[in-house]
Amino acid sequence: IVLILDYGSQYTHLITRRIRTLSIFSLCISGTSSLKTITDLNPSVIILSGGPHSVHTPNSPSFPDGFVEYVEKNGIFVLGICYGLQLIVQKLGGAVAVGEKQEYGKMVIEVVWMSHGDEAVSLPDGFEVVARSEQGAVAAVENKCRRFYGLQYHPEVTHSPKGMETLRHFLLDVCGVEAGWKMEDVMEEEIKVIRGMVGPQDHVICALSGGVDSTVAATLVHKAIGERLHCIFVDNGLLRCKEQERVMETFEKDLHLPVTCVDASVRFLSELKGVTDPEKKRKIIGKEFIAVFDAFAHDLEKKLGRKPTYLVQGTLYPDVIESCPPPGSGKTHSHTIKSHHNVGGLPKDMKLKLIEPLKLLFKDEVRELGKILDVPVSFLKRHPFPGPGLAVRIPGDVTQGNALDILRQVDEIFIQAIKDAGIYDEIWQAFAVFLPVKTTGVQGDQRTHSNAVALRAVTSHDGMTADWYYFEHKFLDDVSRKICNSVRGVNRVCLDITSKPPSTIEWE
Ligand code: XMP
Repeated sequence: IVLILDYGSQYTHLITRRIRTLSIFSLCISGTSSLKTITDLNPSVIILSGGPHSVHTPNSPSFPDGFVEYVEKNGIFVLGICYGLQLIVQKLGGAVAVGEKQEYGKMVIEVVWMSHGDEAVSLPDGFEVVARSEQGAVAAVENKCRRFYGLQYHPEVTHSPKGMETLRHFLLDVCGVEAGWKMEDVMEEEIKVIRGMVGPQDHVICALSGGVDSTVAATLVHKAIGERLHCIFVDNGLLRCKEQERVMETFEKDLHLPVTCVDASVRFLSELKGVTDPEKKRKIIGKEFIAVFDAFAHDLEKKLGRKPTYLVQGTLYPDVIESCPPPGSGKTHSHTIKSHHNVGGLPKDMKLKLIEPLKLLFKDEVRELGKILDVPVSFLKRHPFPGPGLAVRIPGDVTQGNALDILRQVDEIFIQAIKDAGIYDEIWQAFAVFLPVKTTGVQGDQRTHSNAVALRAVTSHDGMTADWYYFEHKFLDDVSRKICNSVRGVNRVCLDITSKPPSTIEWE
């Protein structure tokens, strides 16, 4: 494998992803991982990532003691990128200084993407400069004999036009890595692991949210252990129009998953009645979900005569990396913007062991795996839908008037129009929001005093930042007219034109 030691660069995930697109398996771990963690992974190539630090700052992150001896003894190739290069230079006896001219942005060596303030000024013995930037700064170095290489620029970003070629050349031609990593192999390997882990008497449970991750995870586990998997899908009363029917059809007809559908809408909505605080709403939904899930596990225990032992979760690789940010990277999770509830957030005291078959994959890889597992492509392309559902799209009390009903109708019209216009796949997420205000209108010959709704559509790569989507005026005009003409209780349609930041994607 190609192991990436992360020193906090915003591009580290990209390196991992780019290498995987070359059909080479790569993993990313914290740059300050112990030597044992590194040796246990038995890498053939190690890439030291960039990072926001300077090697001169006290306690700036570095690889562990014994690292250089370990890689040299085992003939492991090491490539340092930006901060990684500076680490190599400094640790092997060269010198790094603040560059006279700082280089951020496009620089020509061949054109590559530079973003650094420090630079190597004297190289360790045996190292050669193989490329310089236009301004004369060291852009690439190597010590072929000791198998150390370094790039001051970022080959992983698309702004470096020959970046992918550089990575490909380095891994395949220089290091002799074999490219043969395929999603089919990942699937076979995971199935083997699951079969090895789950004993013949063990039963496994899984909460399906209707989203891509839990569906692909459950389908994979089902392939591995068949009917000993038991899934639950909860209708919490906060689902979209025909959501239950639509996802259950995919689960049962297309995927043959053993799913129990529990209609718990009454208990969710009665607990939410009168609650207006967004965080309180999320907590109630989380708590109710756990109660429903607990009851499901107990019923199953009665039926099977034994407790289920495992729980499947659709955790993805970015969640795993982000939950253990490298020290000093400035990434912390201390500031909760919203407490995300998703059906995965189950309490530890359930004493279930976890199966997380997707935890080494990125979202697009999960979609690819889903395709191999025959999950319908239309399902794999569905926009994300948050765990608390429509509750975060009705500011205030979700049970007010017929807000849920109105919202479902408006949302359905909006999404159908987007699909009809052929733009669904361009959009990360689109939905309607019920506005808890009444405004004056004139419909027919009558004055009305009805609700306003908002439409929101955004483009995004990962949901962390987002831009609002530019619709054609004609599209907006048609949708607005259709909504006011066919949804009773709505006389005004607004468009949300804020990006994230400053707004979040959802309204609560
Ligand atoms: P925000 O609104 O924070 O959303 O910009 C980013 C992405 O996360 C989804 N989202 C949630 N997902 N539970 C979830 O499972 C939640 O509580 C939740 N809140 C937001 C949102 O739909 C978007 O894709």
